[in-house]
Amino acid sequence: MKHFFGFPFLALALASASTTPDQSFDYIIVGAGTSGLVIANRLSEDPSVTVAVVEAGTDQRNNPNVTSTEFGSGLNSPLDWAYASVNQTHAGNRPFAMHAGKAWGGTSAINGMTYIRGNKAEFDVWETLGNPGWNWDSLFAYYKKSENYTVPTDSQLAAGATYQRQNHGFKGPLHVGYTPALENGSYAPLVIDTWATVGVAHNPDLNRGDVHGFGMGPQTLDPALNVRWDSATAYLHPVEGRSNLQVLRGTVKRITWADKAGKGKLVASGVEVVDENGESTTLGAKKEVVLSAGSLRSPPILEASGVGNSRTLKSLGITPQIDLPGVGENLIEQPAHILVFSGNLPSAASAYHAFLTAAQLFGDELPTIEAESRANLSHWAQAAADASGPGGPSTCALEKLLRYQHDLIFQQNITIAEVLLAIAPGGLLASNYWTLFPFSRGSVHLGSMDQINAPVIDPRLFLADLDLLTLVAAGKFVEKFWFSEPLKTQGDVDGPVISDGSGFTRNATDAEWRAYLQNTVIANSHPTGSASMLPRALGGVVDAELRVYGTANVRVVDASVIPTQVSGHLTATLYSLAERAADIIKGLV
Ligand SMILES: Cc1cc2nc3c(=O)[nH]c(=O)nc-3n(C[C@H](O)[C@H](O)[C@H](O)COP(=O)(O)OP(=O)(O)OC[C@H]3O[C@@H](n4cnc5c(N)ncnc54)[C@H](O)[C@@H]3O)c2cc1C
Ligand SMILES: *[C@@H]1O[C@H](CO)[C@@H](O)[C@H](O)[C@H]1NC(C)=O
Ligand SMILES: *[C@@H]1O[C@H](CO)[C@@H](O)[C@H](O)[C@H]1NC(C)=O
Ligand SMILES: *[C@@H]1O[C@H](CO)[C@@H](O)[C@H](O)[C@H]1NC(C)=O
Ligand SMILES: *[C@@H]1O[C@H](CO)[C@@H](O)[C@H](O)[C@H]1NC(C)=O
Ligand SMILES: *[C@@H]1O[C@H](CO)[C@@H](O)[C@H](O)[C@H]1NC(C)=O
Ligand SMILES: *[C@@H]1O[C@H](CO)[C@@H](O)[C@H](O)[C@H]1NC(C)=O
Ligand SMILES: *[C@@H]1O[C@H](CO)[C@@H](O)[C@H](O)[C@H]1NC(C)=O
Repeated sequence: MKHFFGFPFLALALASASTTPDQSFDYIIVGAGTSGLVIANRLSEDPSVTVAVVEAGTDQRNNPNVTSTEFGSGLNSPLDWAYASVNQTHAGNRPFAMHAGKAWGGTSAINGMTYIRGNKAEFDVWETLGNPGWNWDSLFAYYKKSENYTVPTDSQLAAGATYQRQNHGFKGPLHVGYTPALENGSYAPLVIDTWATVGVAHNPDLNRGDVHGFGMGPQTLDPALNVRWDSATAYLHPVEGRSNLQVLRGTVKRITWADKAGKGKLVASGVEVVDENGESTTLGAKKEVVLSAGSLRSPPILEASGVGNSRTLKSLGITPQIDLPGVGENLIEQPAHILVFSGNLPSAASAYHAFLTAAQLFGDELPTIEAESRANLSHWAQAAADASGPGGPSTCALEKLLRYQHDLIFQQNITIAEVLLAIAPGGLLASNYWTLFPFSRGSVHLGSMDQINAPVIDPRLFLADLDLLTLVAAGKFVEKFWFSEPLKTQGDVDGPVISDGSGFTRNATDAEWRAYLQNTVIANSHPTGSASMLPRALGGVVDAELRVYGTANVRVVDASVIPTQVSGHLTATLYSLAERAADIIKGLV
């Protein structure tokens, strides 16, 4: 649809009918991010199929802030949507920065590049919750399909890199390896011995379906060239010559629907795209529309298209097409914290990841916390449902999801906190740690049809008190770690180094820890769950083939379909999930 200058009412009327699109393709993928480019690559392997990817960001392959393997330079730059959440009631009543990439490659172009999958049970529960075929074993094949693992060199092995060959793929598009900086050595032996002192064992390969303990983590980079490997480098650049694949610049506002419904299901005809000048065009999709705009953007696109909680849609002036209360709900974000101690060690490469269980964090208090938190589940579900308002998610469904998570933690012994350490310049001992499986459930929604780039994000950090208890326990464990031998003496450890005027000190009381973390917690920018793959009765948005309920040809493939959290960092799993999704779309599984 072209811009009808002077006749906005006409444009509006036509926008809801099927119009002749400006261009048509078999598949339209919304978002050239981590997941979207996997789908684009795999679908366009068939030369008879045409694929267009619509992306708001641009090609940044020559931007050193992307290619560099130093983390952080892309943050808060034009490569970052840098969303702000609404003020967080239980976390200092302030807004939180939520980072997300805006470029070819999406968030994989700006992230920390850590490549870690998670614990087997965390994926098997997807199948238990009602998604046949989604489990660790089925994903394992696709982790390997996507991966081109570079075996560590002798000097990297000497610096603590470890791996088991059978867990890795060597023929996939995605380079995974250890940072070349390890060639200059590391503190791995000292760190391993100190973790052992506090009862945390060494893990020989963090990607074997078991992340318990301490291990050196590989990254999505090419170790020979020391450059980032994002989804554009891995999945787009090698196939740019395909004439049936295009990346178009624009922001997708909504899905357009065909007049005729197919077998009682809504049929997408394409998407409405807005350019930098605010002009709209439509693109036609002859086969399918795949939303891969990320956890914070795919749900608002569904809402703008009339798919979501009907009451919310009406209040935004949108005609409901499908009442699907799970859209934008069940948002799961991890509360994270950074605590720095001082020492006297020269800086060296770091890839130090530790994953801790509830038993390790809570010690003797474990039975009490297990029982108390079990009794709290229904309150947390109720609080999340109340916060979302009428027509939203069902308390009963949320409670069921929380109960499965509780069981994973307290019966199946999965890990509940990650600790990432760095021995940084200036003798600084940095610790970044987070609650892996929060019980708080948040939401992300379209705020208004005129503000499609400003989703209303409410992760509800610390709505469930256990999330704070876990973060406090992790912080105390981190302190115990730095002040344990051999690190304590060899590193001459002191601190913490506090520059925020809070007066937070060593050996703080639980009350002091709680207050400090509420005021200094940050969001981990790992949101999942906002368009969950779950049965409709559990608040699901997509089925086990990732198709949006009530539609014939719209799927979501990105972090929003992950119905839970995982201990791993998300990209490893998203590459695998998207590889499997591509095979589903092709009818191969
Ligand atoms: C700072 C930071 C550090 C992280 N570190 C790690 C790490 O070390 N390891 C790890 O595994 N994970 C990490 N993560 C998480 C991980 O990178 C993300 O979870 C993952 O990349 C998300 O992939 P996605 O496919 O869901 O979406 P994205 O990769 O975000 O892709 C979405 C794409 O859609 C585009 N888009 C959005 N809306 C529209 C629209 N309306 N129209 C057109 N295009 C649109 C966006 O511009 C973007 O390119 C990190 C995340 C952040 C923010
Ligand atoms: C890289 O990021 C820095 C700030 O983080 C910014 O000043 C610089 O302009 C960016 N470079 C490019 C090429 O975008
Ligand atoms: C949100 O928090 C900020 C910073 O604490 C404050 O300035 C602002 O007034 C708050 N906004 C609302 C709506 O409460
Ligand atoms: C995997 O990486 C190695 C080392 O960079 C490279 O030689 C090889 O061609 C890559 N394999 C594939 C299938 O891309
Ligand atoms: C090793 O250290 C030297 C000296 O600081 C530095 O020049 C070099 O780049 C480092 N090597 C790697 C692989 O980081
Ligand atoms: C749980 O995990 C911890 C840490 O790996 C381990 O020490 C412990 O034996 C496990 N407990 C059970 C019951 O599996
Ligand atoms: C249970 O909920 C109460 C009330 O919010 C809270 O004070 C307590 O810490 C919770 N306990 C656990 C283990 O989650
Ligand atoms: C903190 O507690 C440890 C262990 O009880 C003790 O050895 C140390 O002196 C204390 N340090 C401070 C600064 O209170």
